[in-house]
Amino acid sequence: MNTRFLDACWGQPVDRVPVWLMRQAGRYLPDYMRVRSKCTFLELCKTPELAAEVTIQPVDILGVDAAILFSDILTPIEPMGMELDFTPGPVFSKPIRTMADVEALKIPKMETDVPYVLDAVKLLRKELAAKVPLIGFGGAPFTLACYMVEGKGSKDFAALKKMMYAEPEVYAALMDKITTMDMEYLNAQIAAGAQAIQIFDTWGGMLSPSDYERYVLPYTQRLINGLNRTNVPVIHFVKGAGTMLEIVKQAGGDVMGLDWHVNLGKARDVLGDMAVQGNLDPTVLFAPKEIIEREVKRVLDENAGRPGLIFNLGHGILPTVPPENAIFMVDCVHRLTQK
Ligand code: CP3
Repeated sequence: MNTRFLDACWGQPVDRVPVWLMRQAGRYLPDYMRVRSKCTFLELCKTPELAAEVTIQPVDILGVDAAILFSDILTPIEPMGMELDFTPGPVFSKPIRTMADVEALKIPKMETDVPYVLDAVKLLRKELAAKVPLIGFGGAPFTLACYMVEGKGSKDFAALKKMMYAEPEVYAALMDKITTMDMEYLNAQIAAGAQAIQIFDTWGGMLSPSDYERYVLPYTQRLINGLNRTNVPVIHFVKGAGTMLEIVKQAGGDVMGLDWHVNLGKARDVLGDMAVQGNLDPTVLFAPKEIIEREVKRVLDENAGRPGLIFNLGHGILPTVPPENAIFMVDCVHRLTQK
């Protein structure tokens, strides 16, 4: 079993820097498209054998040091009572707008409402036993609220922000319920065998630092505090958090995910001993190989040999990236850091 990823999460020395890619299973891989052409995205998420198959594909194809469960941050929202479709972006037919909508939301019973997620985790632990650790994941409460209130993706999530400022009691009730659900969902993944947890806060960085502190931090902090974290590192990724890392750090967690808008070395100066994950611009994977290598080396140079680095992109891999460039990037990280 390759333990580099877990060792680096705990800040331990490693023989070479571990690497994986956010959204590493997906449409840029022809192998994924072959499985995906036979079913919908949600059917894929709900069939443990298929979810496990596409989870393992990037481990074998790219040679990454960790696998991330194939699912979506919105899978546990459907059993809260919200009809969900992917077209291909997520769409909720009846977004949350009122206190009555919030009160109608259920807290799912994980074993019976999302058995497929827990079965996929159990299956993957068996299939990955001699390979790499399995990362489970969920959305941060704020990013989940963005989609639940807006009903779909958005540039500014104005409906959610309007609720946050104009109806703070509705916002607080919603965030409270999502946080409770999220804690049970992630603890169920840990109980099923997830060896690390990543919390995705894709939209947390669109708030001012003071609004982040007031409207997001208390919920993510409660979530992370409520996880059964013994031996299970928590990676907290807030996209766009570069100017407020010292606030985001207060949420807790073991590893800070970084996007490419920060210099990794300067971010580490702010974060102290905390391990970090990141932070190559995902579009670098469209560049010629010598530029990919130059940019990988630049990130490694910014880290300056400090322990507690997990190499990753600064956000998810893009669907049109040539797989051979992702393979090359992973190889660069391993080759340039081999002790
Ligand atoms: O990383 C992995 O390989 C595991 C799988 C994974 C998916 N979604 C599969 C997926 C993970 C970790 C996610 C997280 C996710 N989902 C986030 C947070 C990370 C991020 O990218 O910011 C968010 C915001 C979502 C919501 C979501 N799901 C969107 C906006 C979309 C459509 C746009 C897109 O990037 O595809 C999805 C659909 C989705 N989730 C697909 C996949 C492979 C594509 C669906 C398809 O095959 O048609």
